[in-house]
Amino acid sequence: MKISCQIGKPEKIKTDALVLFAPQEQKLPRDLIPVDRATRGQISKLLKSGDFSGKEGESAVSYPDGRIPAQRILLAGLGKISEVNLETCRYSAGKALCRARDLGARECHLLLPEIPAGVGSGPIAQALIEGGLLALYQYEEYKTEKSKKQIQKITLLARSETERRLINSTITKIQIIIESVNFARDLVNGPGNKVTPEFLAGEARRLAREERLKLKIFGPAEIKKMGMGGLSAVSVGSTRNLPRFLVIEYPGKGRTGRKPVALVGKGITFDSGGISIKPANGMEEMKTDMAGAAAVLGTLRAAARLKLSPRIVGFIPATENMPSGSAYRPGDVLRPYSGPTVEVISTDAEGRLILADALAYACKKYRPEAIIDLATLTGACIIALGREASGLLGNDPKLIKKIIQAGEESGERVWQLPLWKEYGEAIKSNVADIKNSGNREAGTITGGMFLKHYVGDTPWAHLDIAGTAHEEKGRRYFGKGATGVGIRLLIKLLQDW
Ligand code: BES
Ligand code: MN
Ligand code: ZN
Repeated sequence: MKISCQIGKPEKIKTDALVLFAPQEQKLPRDLIPVDRATRGQISKLLKSGDFSGKEGESAVSYPDGRIPAQRILLAGLGKISEVNLETCRYSAGKALCRARDLGARECHLLLPEIPAGVGSGPIAQALIEGGLLALYQYEEYKTEKSKKQIQKITLLARSETERRLINSTITKIQIIIESVNFARDLVNGPGNKVTPEFLAGEARRLAREERLKLKIFGPAEIKKMGMGGLSAVSVGSTRNLPRFLVIEYPGKGRTGRKPVALVGKGITFDSGGISIKPANGMEEMKTDMAGAAAVLGTLRAAARLKLSPRIVGFIPATENMPSGSAYRPGDVLRPYSGPTVEVISTDAEGRLILADALAYACKKYRPEAIIDLATLTGACIIALGREASGLLGNDPKLIKKIIQAGEESGERVWQLPLWKEYGEAIKSNVADIKNSGNREAGTITGGMFLKHYVGDTPWAHLDIAGTAHEEKGRRYFGKGATGVGIRLLIKLLQDW
Protein backbone atom coordinates (compact mmCIF):
# COMPACT_ATOMS: atom_id res chain seq x y z
CA MET A 1 0.00 0.00 0.00
CA LYS A 2 1.29 3.40 -0.94
CA ILE A 3 0.42 6.16 1.47
CA SER A 4 1.38 9.78 1.11
CA CYS A 5 0.34 13.30 1.90
CA GLN A 6 0.11 16.27 -0.43
CA ILE A 7 -1.31 19.75 -0.43
CA GLY A 8 -4.24 19.96 -2.70
CA LYS A 9 -7.68 21.33 -3.27
CA PRO A 10 -10.13 18.42 -3.16
CA GLU A 11 -12.22 19.86 -5.99
CA LYS A 12 -9.17 19.66 -8.27
CA ILE A 13 -8.12 16.08 -7.50
CA LYS A 14 -8.52 13.22 -9.96
CA THR A 15 -9.16 10.10 -7.93
CA ASP A 16 -11.37 7.00 -7.68
CA ALA A 17 -12.84 8.16 -4.41
CA LEU A 18 -12.65 11.50 -2.69
CA VAL A 19 -13.32 10.86 1.00
CA LEU A 20 -14.70 13.84 2.89
CA PHE A 21 -15.38 13.71 6.62
CA ALA A 22 -18.35 15.46 8.16
CA PRO A 23 -19.57 15.56 11.76
CA GLN A 24 -23.15 15.05 12.84
CA GLU A 25 -25.66 17.81 13.68
CA GLN A 26 -24.13 20.29 11.30
CA LYS A 27 -24.90 22.15 8.19
CA LEU A 28 -22.33 21.98 5.48
CA PRO A 29 -18.88 21.92 7.15
CA ARG A 30 -16.77 24.91 6.17
CA ASP A 31 -13.96 22.91 4.58
CA LEU A 32 -16.42 21.16 2.23
CA ILE A 33 -17.84 24.37 0.75
CA PRO A 34 -15.49 24.45 -2.28
CA VAL A 35 -16.38 20.90 -3.33
CA ASP A 36 -20.05 21.59 -2.72
CA ARG A 37 -19.91 24.67 -4.94
CA ALA A 38 -17.98 22.90 -7.68
CA THR A 39 -20.49 20.04 -7.75
CA ARG A 40 -23.50 22.37 -7.67
CA GLY A 41 -24.49 21.42 -4.20
CA GLN A 42 -24.15 17.63 -4.20
CA ILE A 43 -22.95 17.56 -0.60
CA SER A 44 -25.61 19.90 0.72
CA LYS A 45 -28.18 17.76 -1.06
CA LEU A 46 -26.99 14.64 0.76
CA LEU A 47 -27.25 16.53 4.04
CA LYS A 48 -30.59 18.20 3.36
CA SER A 49 -32.28 15.07 2.09
CA GLY A 50 -31.35 13.28 5.31
CA ASP A 51 -29.59 10.57 3.31
CA PHE A 52 -26.50 11.42 5.32
CA SER A 53 -26.60 12.60 8.91
CA GLY A 54 -22.93 12.35 9.85
CA LYS A 55 -23.33 9.57 12.41
CA GLU A 56 -20.11 7.86 13.38
CA GLY A 57 -19.18 5.34 10.69
CA GLU A 58 -22.00 6.32 8.33
CA SER A 59 -21.18 6.94 4.70
CA ALA A 60 -22.90 8.21 1.56
CA VAL A 61 -21.78 8.26 -2.03
CA SER A 62 -22.44 10.74 -4.78
CA TYR A 63 -21.23 10.99 -8.36
CA PRO A 64 -19.98 14.41 -9.47
CA ASP A 65 -20.39 13.47 -13.13
CA GLY A 66 -17.44 15.38 -14.42
CA ARG A 67 -18.08 18.58 -12.49
CA ILE A 68 -14.94 17.80 -10.52
CA PRO A 69 -12.24 15.29 -11.56
CA ALA A 70 -13.00 12.84 -8.72
CA GLN A 71 -14.99 9.83 -9.88
CA ARG A 72 -17.00 9.63 -6.68
CA ILE A 73 -17.41 11.51 -3.45
CA LEU A 74 -17.65 9.48 -0.29
CA LEU A 75 -19.03 11.44 2.60
CA ALA A 76 -17.96 9.87 5.89
CA GLY A 77 -19.64 10.51 9.26
CA LEU A 78 -17.50 11.48 12.25
CA GLY A 79 -20.25 11.48 14.87
CA LYS A 80 -21.14 14.28 17.26
CA ILE A 81 -18.60 17.05 17.03
CA SER A 82 -18.25 17.22 20.82
CA GLU A 83 -17.41 13.51 20.89
CA VAL A 84 -14.92 13.37 18.03
CA ASN A 85 -11.57 11.96 19.14
CA LEU A 86 -8.79 9.84 17.68
CA GLU A 87 -10.75 6.64 18.19
CA THR A 88 -13.79 7.93 16.30
CA CYS A 89 -11.42 9.05 13.52
CA ARG A 90 -9.99 5.52 13.30
CA TYR A 91 -13.47 4.11 13.13
CA SER A 92 -14.77 6.53 10.49
CA ALA A 93 -11.73 6.11 8.27
CA GLY A 94 -11.96 2.33 8.55
CA LYS A 95 -15.61 2.31 7.55
CA ALA A 96 -15.12 4.81 4.72
CA LEU A 97 -12.13 3.03 3.20
CA CYS A 98 -13.83 -0.36 3.30
CA ARG A 99 -16.83 1.19 1.55
CA ALA A 100 -14.53 2.73 -1.06
CA ARG A 101 -12.83 -0.61 -1.60
CA ASP A 102 -16.14 -2.43 -1.94
CA LEU A 103 -17.17 0.12 -4.56
CA GLY A 104 -14.08 -0.84 -6.51
CA ALA A 105 -11.89 2.19 -5.82
CA ARG A 106 -8.16 1.53 -6.14
CA GLU A 107 -7.00 4.98 -5.23
CA CYS A 108 -8.47 7.19 -2.49
CA HIS A 109 -7.88 10.75 -1.42
CA LEU A 110 -8.84 11.76 2.10
CA LEU A 111 -9.35 15.37 3.06
CA LEU A 112 -8.12 15.86 6.63
CA PRO A 113 -11.17 16.85 8.67
CA GLU A 114 -11.14 20.20 10.41
CA ILE A 115 -11.63 19.39 14.06
CA PRO A 116 -11.89 22.26 16.51
CA ALA A 117 -9.67 22.47 19.58
CA GLY A 118 -7.44 19.97 21.25
CA VAL A 119 -6.40 17.39 18.71
CA GLY A 120 -3.59 18.25 16.29
CA SER A 121 -3.67 17.34 12.62
CA GLY A 122 -0.65 15.00 13.01
CA PRO A 123 -2.43 12.63 15.39
CA ILE A 124 -5.64 12.88 13.34
CA ALA A 125 -3.84 11.89 10.17
CA GLN A 126 -2.22 9.06 12.09
CA ALA A 127 -5.58 7.84 13.38
CA LEU A 128 -7.12 7.93 9.89
CA ILE A 129 -4.31 5.79 8.48
CA GLU A 130 -4.37 3.39 11.43
CA GLY A 131 -8.10 2.87 11.25
CA GLY A 132 -7.97 2.52 7.49
CA LEU A 133 -5.16 -0.01 7.34
CA LEU A 134 -6.53 -2.07 10.22
CA ALA A 135 -9.99 -2.18 8.67
CA LEU A 136 -8.77 -3.05 5.18
CA TYR A 137 -6.90 -6.12 6.46
CA GLN A 138 -8.20 -9.44 5.14
CA TYR A 139 -7.00 -12.97 5.81
CA GLU A 140 -7.30 -14.82 2.52
CA GLU A 141 -4.49 -17.34 2.61
CA TYR A 142 -6.81 -20.32 2.22
CA LYS A 143 -9.40 -18.74 -0.07
CA THR A 144 -9.17 -20.18 -3.53
CA GLU A 145 -10.53 -16.97 -4.96
CA LYS A 146 -8.87 -13.88 -3.53
CA SER A 147 -10.89 -10.70 -3.59
CA LYS A 148 -9.94 -8.53 -6.53
CA LYS A 149 -11.02 -5.30 -4.97
CA GLN A 150 -8.01 -3.77 -3.23
CA ILE A 151 -7.09 -0.20 -2.46
CA GLN A 152 -3.55 0.39 -3.58
CA LYS A 153 -2.97 4.02 -2.83
CA ILE A 154 -4.16 6.39 -0.14
CA THR A 155 -3.36 10.08 -0.25
CA LEU A 156 -4.09 12.51 2.54
CA LEU A 157 -4.88 16.04 1.52
CA ALA A 158 -3.26 18.62 3.77
CA ARG A 159 -4.07 22.30 3.88
CA SER A 160 -0.62 23.75 4.39
CA GLU A 161 3.04 22.99 3.86
CA THR A 162 3.69 22.64 7.60
CA GLU A 163 0.81 20.23 7.90
CA ARG A 164 2.06 18.24 4.94
CA ARG A 165 5.57 17.95 6.37
CA LEU A 166 4.30 16.99 9.79
CA ILE A 167 2.12 14.26 8.35
CA ASN A 168 4.68 12.91 5.92
CA SER A 169 7.14 12.46 8.76
CA THR A 170 4.71 10.18 10.63
CA ILE A 171 3.34 8.14 7.73
CA THR A 172 6.28 5.72 7.54
CA LYS A 173 6.12 5.10 11.29
CA ILE A 174 2.42 4.35 11.31
CA GLN A 175 2.78 2.09 8.34
CA ILE A 176 5.52 0.10 10.09
CA ILE A 177 3.37 -0.29 13.19
CA ILE A 178 0.22 -1.38 11.38
CA GLU A 179 2.13 -3.75 9.08
CA SER A 180 3.54 -5.33 12.22
CA VAL A 181 0.05 -5.62 13.68
CA ASN A 182 -1.16 -7.24 10.48
CA PHE A 183 1.83 -9.60 10.51
CA ALA A 184 0.73 -10.72 13.98
CA ARG A 185 -2.87 -11.08 12.78
CA ASP A 186 -1.74 -13.43 10.01
CA LEU A 187 -0.04 -15.62 12.63
CA VAL A 188 -3.06 -15.64 14.93
CA ASN A 189 -5.50 -16.32 12.09
CA GLY A 190 -3.28 -19.13 10.84
CA PRO A 191 -4.73 -22.56 11.68
CA GLY A 192 -3.16 -24.84 14.24
CA ASN A 193 -1.99 -27.29 11.59
CA LYS A 194 0.11 -24.53 10.06
CA VAL A 195 1.11 -22.32 12.97
CA THR A 196 2.90 -24.89 15.15
CA PRO A 197 5.71 -24.17 17.63
CA GLU A 198 8.16 -25.06 14.88
CA PHE A 199 6.45 -22.63 12.52
CA LEU A 200 6.65 -19.84 15.12
CA ALA A 201 10.35 -20.57 15.48
CA GLY A 202 10.71 -20.31 11.70
CA GLU A 203 8.92 -16.94 11.68
CA ALA A 204 11.21 -15.76 14.47
CA ARG A 205 14.20 -16.88 12.43
CA ARG A 206 12.99 -14.99 9.38
CA LEU A 207 12.34 -11.90 11.49
CA ALA A 208 15.76 -12.14 13.12
CA ARG A 209 17.40 -12.31 9.72
CA GLU A 210 15.40 -9.44 8.24
CA GLU A 211 15.61 -7.10 11.22
CA ARG A 212 19.02 -8.15 12.51
CA LEU A 213 17.78 -9.43 15.83
CA LYS A 214 19.54 -11.92 18.06
CA LEU A 215 17.70 -15.20 18.33
CA LYS A 216 18.01 -18.34 20.40
CA ILE A 217 15.76 -21.31 19.74
CA PHE A 218 15.59 -24.02 22.39
CA GLY A 219 14.15 -27.40 21.38
CA PRO A 220 12.36 -30.02 23.52
CA ALA A 221 15.51 -31.64 24.93
CA GLU A 222 17.03 -28.31 25.99
CA ILE A 223 13.73 -27.14 27.48
CA LYS A 224 13.71 -30.23 29.66
CA LYS A 225 17.39 -29.99 30.51
CA MET A 226 17.09 -26.33 31.52
CA GLY A 227 14.46 -27.35 34.04
CA MET A 228 11.43 -25.78 32.46
CA GLY A 229 8.99 -28.09 34.20
CA GLY A 230 5.91 -26.17 33.12
CA LEU A 231 6.58 -25.98 29.40
CA SER A 232 7.85 -29.58 29.40
CA ALA A 233 4.72 -30.91 31.06
CA VAL A 234 2.27 -29.04 28.84
CA SER A 235 4.10 -30.15 25.71
CA VAL A 236 4.32 -33.89 26.31
CA GLY A 237 0.77 -34.59 25.18
CA SER A 238 1.88 -33.73 21.65
CA THR A 239 3.87 -36.43 19.97
CA ARG A 240 4.11 -34.65 16.61
CA ASN A 241 4.41 -30.93 17.16
CA LEU A 242 7.17 -30.45 19.69
CA PRO A 243 7.78 -27.35 21.82
CA ARG A 244 10.18 -24.49 21.30
CA PHE A 245 11.37 -21.75 23.58
CA LEU A 246 12.33 -18.59 21.72
CA VAL A 247 14.45 -15.72 22.96
CA ILE A 248 14.60 -12.87 20.49
CA GLU A 249 16.46 -9.67 21.17
CA TYR A 250 16.53 -6.16 19.76
CA PRO A 251 19.66 -4.49 21.14
CA GLY A 252 18.25 -0.95 21.19
CA LYS A 253 19.96 2.20 20.09
CA GLY A 254 23.10 3.58 21.66
CA ARG A 255 24.52 2.27 24.92
CA THR A 256 25.11 -1.46 25.17
CA GLY A 257 24.90 -3.51 28.34
CA ARG A 258 21.70 -1.85 29.49
CA LYS A 259 19.01 -3.73 31.34
CA PRO A 260 16.37 -4.74 28.80
CA VAL A 261 12.62 -4.47 28.78
CA ALA A 262 11.37 -8.08 28.68
CA LEU A 263 8.25 -9.10 26.79
CA VAL A 264 6.77 -12.54 27.29
CA GLY A 265 4.07 -13.98 25.02
CA LYS A 266 1.95 -17.06 25.60
CA GLY A 267 2.48 -19.32 22.59
CA ILE A 268 -0.04 -22.14 22.85
CA THR A 269 -0.53 -22.94 19.17
CA PHE A 270 -3.62 -24.96 19.98
CA ASP A 271 -5.33 -25.32 23.34
CA SER A 272 -7.57 -28.38 23.46
CA GLY A 273 -7.51 -28.22 27.25
CA GLY A 274 -5.46 -31.42 27.39
CA ILE A 275 -6.84 -34.18 29.64
CA SER A 276 -9.16 -31.53 31.17
CA ILE A 277 -10.50 -31.28 27.65
CA LYS A 278 -12.58 -28.33 26.52
CA PRO A 279 -16.14 -28.63 25.17
CA ALA A 280 -16.22 -29.09 21.38
CA ASN A 281 -18.30 -25.98 20.82
CA GLY A 282 -16.03 -23.10 19.81
CA MET A 283 -12.83 -25.07 20.36
CA GLU A 284 -11.58 -23.93 16.96
CA GLU A 285 -11.02 -20.48 18.47
CA MET A 286 -8.22 -22.00 20.51
CA LYS A 287 -5.90 -21.75 17.52
CA THR A 288 -5.62 -18.11 18.65
CA ASP A 289 -4.08 -19.07 21.99
CA MET A 290 -0.70 -17.87 20.72
CA ALA A 291 -1.85 -14.26 20.28
CA GLY A 292 0.52 -13.17 23.06
CA ALA A 293 3.45 -14.71 21.20
CA ALA A 294 2.37 -13.04 17.96
CA ALA A 295 2.17 -9.68 19.74
CA VAL A 296 5.71 -10.08 21.05
CA LEU A 297 7.04 -10.92 17.58
CA GLY A 298 5.10 -8.04 16.03
CA THR A 299 6.37 -5.61 18.64
CA LEU A 300 9.99 -6.63 18.07
CA ARG A 301 9.50 -6.24 14.33
CA ALA A 302 8.11 -2.74 14.73
CA ALA A 303 10.65 -1.73 17.38
CA ALA A 304 13.55 -2.77 15.15
CA ARG A 305 12.16 -1.02 12.08
CA LEU A 306 11.42 2.13 14.05
CA LYS A 307 14.88 1.94 15.65
CA LEU A 308 13.44 2.55 19.11
CA SER A 309 15.93 3.28 21.84
CA PRO A 310 15.22 0.67 24.58
CA ARG A 311 16.81 -2.75 24.49
CA ILE A 312 13.97 -5.29 24.19
CA VAL A 313 14.06 -9.04 24.68
CA GLY A 314 11.11 -11.23 23.76
CA PHE A 315 10.51 -14.64 25.36
CA ILE A 316 8.12 -17.10 23.77
CA PRO A 317 7.25 -20.47 25.22
CA ALA A 318 5.54 -22.28 22.35
CA THR A 319 3.68 -25.57 22.50
CA GLU A 320 0.39 -27.28 21.82
CA ASN A 321 -1.80 -28.43 24.70
CA MET A 322 -3.11 -31.85 23.68
CA PRO A 323 -4.58 -34.92 25.38
CA SER A 324 -2.91 -38.25 24.70
CA GLY A 325 -1.46 -41.30 26.42
CA SER A 326 1.65 -39.27 27.13
CA ALA A 327 -0.12 -36.13 28.29
CA TYR A 328 0.35 -34.56 31.73
CA ARG A 329 -2.51 -35.09 34.16
CA PRO A 330 -4.48 -33.38 36.88
CA GLY A 331 -2.71 -34.16 40.14
CA ASP A 332 0.76 -34.05 38.64
CA VAL A 333 3.26 -31.87 40.46
CA LEU A 334 5.65 -29.73 38.39
CA ARG A 335 8.84 -27.79 39.01
CA PRO A 336 9.07 -24.65 36.91
CA TYR A 337 12.47 -23.12 36.03
CA SER A 338 12.49 -21.51 39.46
CA GLY A 339 9.92 -20.48 42.03
CA PRO A 340 7.19 -22.49 43.72
CA THR A 341 6.29 -26.07 42.79
CA VAL A 342 2.87 -26.51 41.22
CA GLU A 343 0.09 -29.02 41.62
CA VAL A 344 -1.87 -29.37 38.41
CA ILE A 345 -5.60 -29.14 39.06
CA SER A 346 -6.63 -28.49 35.48
CA THR A 347 -4.49 -29.24 32.45
CA ASP A 348 -6.53 -26.48 30.80
CA ALA A 349 -4.82 -23.86 32.99
CA GLU A 350 -1.71 -24.46 30.89
CA GLY A 351 -0.88 -20.87 29.97
CA ARG A 352 0.34 -19.95 33.45
CA LEU A 353 2.52 -23.07 33.54
CA ILE A 354 4.48 -22.18 30.44
CA LEU A 355 4.57 -18.49 31.42
CA ALA A 356 6.00 -19.41 34.84
CA ASP A 357 9.06 -20.88 33.12
CA ALA A 358 9.44 -17.98 30.72
CA LEU A 359 8.99 -15.28 33.39
CA ALA A 360 11.39 -16.98 35.79
CA TYR A 361 13.97 -17.54 33.06
CA ALA A 362 13.72 -13.95 31.81
CA CYS A 363 14.02 -12.45 35.31
CA LYS A 364 16.93 -14.66 36.37
CA LYS A 365 19.00 -14.59 33.19
CA TYR A 366 18.33 -11.07 31.93
CA ARG A 367 17.56 -9.00 35.05
CA PRO A 368 15.14 -6.83 33.05
CA GLU A 369 14.21 -3.29 34.01
CA ALA A 370 10.61 -4.36 33.62
CA ILE A 371 8.80 -7.43 32.37
CA ILE A 372 5.44 -7.47 30.60
CA ASP A 373 3.61 -10.62 29.61
CA LEU A 374 0.73 -10.92 27.16
CA ALA A 375 -1.50 -13.96 27.28
CA THR A 376 -4.92 -15.19 26.25
CA LEU A 377 -5.03 -16.51 29.79
CA THR A 378 -8.57 -16.70 31.12
CA GLY A 379 -12.12 -16.96 29.85
CA ALA A 380 -12.98 -15.13 33.08
CA CYS A 381 -11.41 -11.98 31.63
CA ILE A 382 -13.98 -12.00 28.83
CA ILE A 383 -16.71 -12.24 31.44
CA ALA A 384 -15.22 -9.37 33.47
CA LEU A 385 -14.36 -6.88 30.73
CA GLY A 386 -15.95 -8.17 27.56
CA ARG A 387 -14.04 -7.29 24.44
CA GLU A 388 -13.47 -3.59 24.98
CA ALA A 389 -10.41 -3.82 27.22
CA SER A 390 -7.57 -6.16 28.11
CA GLY A 391 -7.12 -7.08 31.76
CA LEU A 392 -4.10 -5.49 33.42
CA LEU A 393 -2.47 -6.78 36.60
CA GLY A 394 0.94 -6.23 38.09
CA ASN A 395 3.21 -5.49 41.02
CA ASP A 396 4.48 -2.03 40.12
CA PRO A 397 2.18 1.03 40.23
CA LYS A 398 4.50 3.13 38.05
CA LEU A 399 4.61 0.53 35.28
CA ILE A 400 0.85 0.02 35.53
CA LYS A 401 0.27 3.75 35.17
CA LYS A 402 2.45 3.94 32.08
CA ILE A 403 0.63 1.00 30.49
CA ILE A 404 -2.79 2.50 31.16
CA GLN A 405 -1.61 5.76 29.57
CA ALA A 406 -0.20 3.96 26.52
CA GLY A 407 -3.47 2.05 26.26
CA GLU A 408 -5.55 5.22 26.15
CA GLU A 409 -3.27 6.86 23.61
CA SER A 410 -2.99 3.90 21.30
CA GLY A 411 -6.69 3.00 21.36
CA GLU A 412 -5.89 -0.38 22.95
CA ARG A 413 -7.61 0.09 26.24
CA VAL A 414 -6.73 -1.82 29.40
CA TRP A 415 -8.41 -2.06 32.79
CA GLN A 416 -6.62 -2.87 35.99
CA LEU A 417 -7.67 -5.64 38.37
CA PRO A 418 -6.22 -5.98 41.89
CA LEU A 419 -3.69 -8.52 43.17
CA TRP A 420 -4.43 -8.31 46.90
CA LYS A 421 -2.71 -11.04 48.83
CA GLU A 422 -6.05 -12.43 50.05
CA TYR A 423 -6.67 -13.70 46.51
CA GLY A 424 -3.67 -16.00 47.00
CA GLU A 425 -5.77 -18.26 49.27
CA ALA A 426 -7.53 -19.71 46.23
CA ILE A 427 -4.36 -21.26 44.80
CA LYS A 428 -2.88 -22.81 47.95
CA SER A 429 -2.17 -26.50 47.46
CA ASN A 430 -2.08 -29.40 49.89
CA VAL A 431 0.74 -31.24 48.15
CA ALA A 432 2.79 -28.56 46.39
CA ASP A 433 3.54 -24.87 47.04
CA ILE A 434 0.68 -23.66 44.86
CA LYS A 435 -1.86 -25.07 42.41
CA ASN A 436 -2.61 -23.95 38.89
CA SER A 437 -6.31 -23.29 39.28
CA GLY A 438 -8.59 -22.05 42.05
CA ASN A 439 -12.38 -22.08 42.08
CA ARG A 440 -14.46 -20.14 39.59
CA GLU A 441 -14.22 -16.87 41.47
CA ALA A 442 -11.97 -14.06 40.21
CA GLY A 443 -10.37 -16.31 37.61
CA THR A 444 -8.34 -13.57 35.93
CA ILE A 445 -6.95 -12.43 39.26
CA THR A 446 -5.97 -15.91 40.45
CA GLY A 447 -4.18 -16.31 37.10
CA GLY A 448 -2.29 -13.11 37.90
CA MET A 449 -1.58 -14.23 41.49
CA PHE A 450 -0.07 -17.40 40.08
CA LEU A 451 2.25 -15.57 37.66
CA LYS A 452 3.32 -13.08 40.34
CA HIS A 453 5.22 -15.90 42.08
CA TYR A 454 7.65 -16.19 39.20
CA VAL A 455 8.85 -12.61 38.70
CA GLY A 456 10.46 -12.02 42.12
CA ASP A 457 10.75 -8.28 42.65
CA THR A 458 11.10 -7.37 38.98
CA PRO A 459 8.58 -4.67 38.01
CA TRP A 460 6.01 -6.73 36.19
CA ALA A 461 2.70 -6.33 34.37
CA HIS A 462 0.42 -8.99 32.94
CA LEU A 463 -2.01 -8.29 30.09
CA ASP A 464 -4.84 -10.79 29.82
CA ILE A 465 -5.85 -10.48 26.16
CA ALA A 466 -8.34 -13.37 26.05
CA GLY A 467 -11.18 -10.99 25.19
CA THR A 468 -9.32 -8.63 22.88
CA ALA A 469 -7.14 -10.86 20.71
CA HIS A 470 -9.91 -12.17 18.55
CA GLU A 471 -13.21 -10.91 17.14
CA GLU A 472 -16.06 -13.24 16.46
CA LYS A 473 -18.26 -10.67 14.73
CA GLY A 474 -15.98 -7.72 14.15
CA ARG A 475 -16.08 -4.41 16.00
CA ARG A 476 -14.80 -0.88 15.57
CA TYR A 477 -12.17 -1.08 12.81
CA PHE A 478 -11.64 -4.81 13.08
CA GLY A 479 -13.24 -7.42 10.89
CA LYS A 480 -13.74 -11.01 12.02
CA GLY A 481 -10.70 -12.80 13.38
CA ALA A 482 -7.43 -11.70 14.95
CA THR A 483 -6.87 -8.11 16.07
CA GLY A 484 -3.12 -8.15 16.71
CA VAL A 485 -3.82 -6.55 20.10
CA GLY A 486 -0.90 -5.38 22.23
CA ILE A 487 1.51 -4.14 19.60
CA ARG A 488 0.16 -0.61 19.26
CA LEU A 489 0.11 -0.28 23.04
CA LEU A 490 3.60 -1.68 23.57
CA ILE A 491 5.12 0.44 20.82
CA LYS A 492 3.57 3.56 22.35
CA LEU A 493 4.96 2.52 25.73
CA LEU A 494 8.44 1.81 24.33
CA GLN A 495 8.53 5.02 22.29
CA ASP A 496 7.99 7.00 25.49
CA TRP A 497 10.17 4.72 27.68
N1 BES B 1 -6.70 -20.27 26.51
C1 BES B 1 -7.60 -20.38 27.58
C2 BES B 1 -8.31 -19.07 27.91
C3 BES B 1 -9.25 -18.53 26.86
C4 BES B 1 -10.59 -18.86 26.89
C5 BES B 1 -8.81 -17.68 25.88
C6 BES B 1 -11.46 -18.35 25.93
C7 BES B 1 -9.65 -17.17 24.91
C8 BES B 1 -10.99 -17.51 24.94
C9 BES B 1 -6.86 -20.84 28.83
O1 BES B 1 -5.80 -21.70 28.63
C10 BES B 1 -7.84 -21.56 29.69
O2 BES B 1 -8.30 -22.60 29.28
N2 BES B 1 -8.13 -21.01 30.86
C11 BES B 1 -9.02 -21.62 31.79
C12 BES B 1 -8.43 -21.45 33.16
C13 BES B 1 -9.10 -22.26 34.22
C14 BES B 1 -8.98 -23.73 33.96
C15 BES B 1 -8.45 -21.91 35.55
C16 BES B 1 -10.37 -20.93 31.66
O3 BES B 1 -10.42 -19.73 31.39
O4 BES B 1 -11.37 -21.60 31.80
MN1 MN C 1 -6.39 -23.75 28.51
ZN1 ZN D 1 -4.86 -21.53 26.85
